[in-house]
Amino acid sequence: MSKLSEMSKLSVKDARDESSIGKTTLIQGWVRTRRDSKAGFSFIEINDGSSQGNIQIVAPAELENYESEVKALTAGCSISAEGEIVESGGRGQKTEMQASQVVVHGWADPETYPLQKKRHSFEKLREWAHLRPRTNTFGAVARVRNGICNSIHQFYQERGFLYVHTPVITASDCEGAGEMFQVTTMNLDEIAKNAIENLNYKFDFFDRPSYLTVSGQLSAETYACALGKVYTFGPTFRAENSNTSRHLAEFWMIEPEMAFYDLSDNMDLAEAFIKRIVADSLSQCGEDMEFFNDRIDESHTLLEVLNSLVENEFVRLPYTEAIEILEKSDQKFEFPVQWGVDLQSEHERFLTETHFKNPVILFDYPKRIKPFYMYCNDDDKTVRAMDVLVPNVGEIIGGSQREHRLDVLESRMKDQGLDVGDYWWYTDLRRFGTVPHAGFGLGLERAVQFVTSMGNIRDVIAFPRTPGNAEF
Ligand code: 4AD
Ligand code: MG
Repeated sequence: MSKLSEMSKLSVKDARDESSIGKTTLIQGWVRTRRDSKAGFSFIEINDGSSQGNIQIVAPAELENYESEVKALTAGCSISAEGEIVESGGRGQKTEMQASQVVVHGWADPETYPLQKKRHSFEKLREWAHLRPRTNTFGAVARVRNGICNSIHQFYQERGFLYVHTPVITASDCEGAGEMFQVTTMNLDEIAKNAIENLNYKFDFFDRPSYLTVSGQLSAETYACALGKVYTFGPTFRAENSNTSRHLAEFWMIEPEMAFYDLSDNMDLAEAFIKRIVADSLSQCGEDMEFFNDRIDESHTLLEVLNSLVENEFVRLPYTEAIEILEKSDQKFEFPVQWGVDLQSEHERFLTETHFKNPVILFDYPKRIKPFYMYCNDDDKTVRAMDVLVPNVGEIIGGSQREHRLDVLESRMKDQGLDVGDYWWYTDLRRFGTVPHAGFGLGLERAVQFVTSMGNIRDVIAFPRTPGNAEF
């Protein structure tokens, strides 16, 4: 191994490129397959996560460990191979390695290694979430997710936004939906054993009930109302008991918040933001995006849909007009629609997939179904909320212009049963130098789902947290 470790290394991705032909190098990764030729040598396909494609190692019989080790390699074994990158005659590959040495680091018993050559369902692979990144699909998801995160930071940094970190533990319920995970250091077993009914939070860590955050928005607003344009990018938690393909109990959210922005500025930013993520994925993750189009998207139209999104303007439509379209449509919905109801996923998808065949930004929702912080329109019935809907996913962004008038905000809080005193710091922003401001939240996993066409949100995050599920 000493000789090997001194060599310059190439990733499989770089070694697959023609420019590497003629280089003597070291490649390290995990075996996907091994095939022995009658002519007395073996082909070993390895992958190291750097690209969708593998590289073929040609291992000649002259290797000292050829009979003892090389011919025993199976899927999942880890190896280092030294040799020269040469032009390949094989289909679908420009290069291969002619190995002069192969070192085996770890064996993977074929009787018990779960990832054998046969295709496994995504449901099955969730049970092996610790091994699934070794498959083509999950490797591709991880690379595209990484690319999206990179684009997100670039997008905001280029526009002069400050990246701020908002707390994970909080005492306030931003969305007012009561779906928070409580955080406590009190001993629940003791409480249950002693049948304590009225908890005294003086004995809890923070002297008060506290929770994992559902959104960083309220904290982000404090920074926007001082520094202008900020964004957060962090984990958020919701104890919604919804077992759908679009909900997680722990997900990542990007929340830009801008002072001196109104709803229309907010929509412009959201549209540019999604377009940037999609355009970068197409231009920077080409090989993986082709894989999703050809192997994952059943209609093979993913690339077409994404390219069209980048080129066309999003539809912008008031909620009230959306309801009229839904009421007039011949579509049978499980949940009936009428003005005032919250739209279900089936309605959102009808609008974006069937009716407009385009991303849609819905705005001016009934105030009764939206949180306290949204700006009240003069009609006193609607608030300046906006949701961005995209095909296959439905809602990908939720946001609004914020209520910056102290009296209106306080009355909205009271209407929704909130204790105004608990939010004294939030209302202070309206007391001292208040400004119109706006922002939104993009669900990272929904964005990855949209870009990759993966059907279930559990398959675009490494270790999904859903009701009854916190393994790994
Ligand atoms: O629409 P939501 O609830 O908006 C907010 O939380 C605002 N405070 C954001 C803001 O204005 N700063 O959530 C925003 C987005 C949704 O559009 C969706 O993409 C995602 O977060 N999301 C979820 N993603 C996965 N699992 C869940 N349970 C989600 N709930 C929301
Ligand atoms: Mg929402």
